[in-house]
Amino acid sequence: MYSQVSRGVEAAVIGGDVRLSADGRTVDIPAIWLRDNAPDADSRDVLSGQRLFDIVDLPADIRVEEASVAEDRLRVRFTPGGHQTSFALDTLLGEVNQVANLDLRTERAKRLWSDAARAAALEPVEWESYLRHPAPALRQVVEWGFVLLQGVPAEAGQVTKVAETFGYVRETNYGRIFDVRVEPNPVNLAFTGLAITPHTDNPYREPVPTLQLLLCLHNAADGGDSGMVDGFAAAAELRETDRAAFDLLTSTPVTYRYRGDGTRLGAVVPLIGLDAEQRIREIRFNNRSMQVPLTDPARVRAFYTAYRSFAELLYKPRAQLNFRLETGDCLIFDNTRALHARTAFAASGGRHLQGTYADLDGLNSTLRRLEEQGR
Ligand code: FE2
Repeated sequence: MYSQVSRGVEAAVIGGDVRLSADGRTVDIPAIWLRDNAPDADSRDVLSGQRLFDIVDLPADIRVEEASVAEDRLRVRFTPGGHQTSFALDTLLGEVNQVANLDLRTERAKRLWSDAARAAALEPVEWESYLRHPAPALRQVVEWGFVLLQGVPAEAGQVTKVAETFGYVRETNYGRIFDVRVEPNPVNLAFTGLAITPHTDNPYREPVPTLQLLLCLHNAADGGDSGMVDGFAAAAELRETDRAAFDLLTSTPVTYRYRGDGTRLGAVVPLIGLDAEQRIREIRFNNRSMQVPLTDPARVRAFYTAYRSFAELLYKPRAQLNFRLETGDCLIFDNTRALHARTAFAASGGRHLQGTYADLDGLNSTLRRLEEQGR
């Protein structure tokens, strides 16, 4: 039985569920989903929009008894219980794309670049222009994995102020800020002049800091150039070219450890993390702190072969975007995706970066708000 038609949308009750039809497309919506998402004041708090009941409060055998479309709304009555509610059709049909729109973390929301020349075309963003209009730079972090700000005040502590333009500093045992320069008794190879191959930071934390910011206060060193590699692109390439290796790296937990200054950190995770639908979601790659569990020898050998293949993709010169951070340059990057590297440098020339960690949820929240406001 078809109901009234509103803007070409028709509703029918089929087997106790609702079928919406419009322009030759149909969407089937189970009764339990409709009841669970009922927006009326008996079901949701008017101010917060939060749900007022629990799944066990709903009849397990709930069905839609009657459905009709009028004035851009779908009206339904349920049985048993007789609860009535209505949905704005725009909102309801928008739900179909809701998951995709909310997911800013997996490869679904990204533009992958296995060739650094693609990312090299992105222009740095001037600090003053960023402050006036931050959304494009934040969107670049989501889609490309990094953004380079220029003309940021090269002052001690400023890097946390950059993080606070979109979110919150993630304080760790390194403090709110860490200095990247040569130190006399370094607790980390980052604080030496040695070359550092592409890696993600702090894989031994759970949860991992999902964003890193590096502000250059001063760089007169020979060398010490910075590099970025798209870890998602390398993982996608491995999936394409060697599925067995990809499957091993996504299903074998490895351990990451850090000891120092009274701290004992550890995490047990795969190198490549997937979401529940097998999309690439998180890379943790750090040759300095990763340890492969000593299990079945054949599996250990196969793991090392897969690990080497992935490393070869990440270390390909073509995959690495190189640039030299100058005074006032601030690199913001997704520490779950963009690997960073640096070439060796001489201690005498002087190179001083300040870094801080932050989290993607803060950046993503700010970006969603700005884009909702059309800014
Ligand atoms: Fe690092």
